[in-house]
Amino acid sequence: ASIPDLIRKKRDGEAHPRAELEALILGYTRGDVPDYQVSAWLMAVYLRGMTPQETADLTMVMAESGDLMDLGELPRTVDKHSTGGVGDKTSLILTPMLAALGLTVAKMSGRGLAHTGGTIDKLESIPGWTSELSEERFTSQARGIGLSLVGQSKDLAPADGKLYALRDVTATVDCLPLIASSIMSKKLASGAHTVVLDVKVGAGAFMRTLEDGRGLARAMVDIGTRAGRQVRAVLTDMDTPLGHMAGNSVEVIEALDTLRGHGPHDLTELCVALAVEALAAQGEDSAQAETRARATLRGGSALAKFRAFVAAQGGDPTYVDDPSRFDVAPGRADVPAPAAGYVQRIDALSVGRAVLALGGGRERKGEAIDHGVGVELLKKPGEAVTVGEAVMRVYHRGGRGLDAALALLAEGLSVGPDAPAPEALILDRV
Ligand code: URA
Repeated sequence: ASIPDLIRKKRDGEAHPRAELEALILGYTRGDVPDYQVSAWLMAVYLRGMTPQETADLTMVMAESGDLMDLGELPRTVDKHSTGGVGDKTSLILTPMLAALGLTVAKMSGRGLAHTGGTIDKLESIPGWTSELSEERFTSQARGIGLSLVGQSKDLAPADGKLYALRDVTATVDCLPLIASSIMSKKLASGAHTVVLDVKVGAGAFMRTLEDGRGLARAMVDIGTRAGRQVRAVLTDMDTPLGHMAGNSVEVIEALDTLRGHGPHDLTELCVALAVEALAAQGEDSAQAETRARATLRGGSALAKFRAFVAAQGGDPTYVDDPSRFDVAPGRADVPAPAAGYVQRIDALSVGRAVLALGGGRERKGEAIDHGVGVELLKKPGEAVTVGEAVMRVYHRGGRGLDAALALLAEGLSVGPDAPAPEALILDRV
């Protein structure tokens, strides 16, 4: 069939067999099918949707459009993905926990974009740490200490890179089968047998409602299962930033506190829950998995793995031993409570945008960032405050973006007379 025939088919709501998706997607990746035809097809997918089989086939075609990582001889490989949030430093804690539990994490991570942070940017707060490892070092380090982490190679699922850029300019990003296939194509190409997905729901997330989040989680678990992987998803709240810190250096400091067993409650519980899912996916009993996961934080084995991982990738391990060494921006400005009462809401999107305004994130790929700026939540929703009491603290270097950051934070904060109903962090599991 010609490309116009395939566009017509999707326009009329029919399902593509795998060979047709290959003609479109591989043709597009090679440069044989032009943007305007794929744009029309993406819009037809947006309006007509895809069957579960079609979505899985699309994902596998995208995964196979470039290199496939072969983690075959590494034991018990596991990968983790978050759909993106504010203050989400979970990977910094969870991956060494998993390594300490005897699993192997050989993972590709991303950089932050717009209001969401990225693991690679956070780790680059540690002087010397690099995300650029040869393939051989990547696998030998994973074999040796159970944890290695690199930036996403452009040869991994290249179809996704091209399609994502086109979706971005054709109003076809927020489409469930396209989001699910985009995320899962990279996970399948990365090679891990077990994948744990943290699907964020709320003001600071891609998915604003629990129902949308569940749909995405189910679609991704279905794709992974059809591809022969063990996939589990947890739906978690992203109305409020996770933990107390948002930024780069300040998030690594909070992650180190958590690896020492002194982390914020929400962050610690999420890391334990995700570790339990990873172990349970590999057949372990959940109660025993939880005991073992908590022990990696209490006993220091996860911290020891993190230190070994930092050193192996060129980072200065004395920053792990002494977090006061991190370059945190010296300026301080507080956001006061506008009234006495209880914190009702600290909007995650406002906090993410404030970090961006301070220079701690990027609007465009490739922009430099300031690792030292950030926002600390001195109070979380549900806590009592007096009028004028500091609710948030901004770490800044003066001037640039500070006023904008303070305005965003004040706008995202609400204080009311009654204690709000406590909100669960873990909303559902798929
Ligand atoms: N993250 C991705 O990798 N792809 C999407 O389409 C959305 C979020």
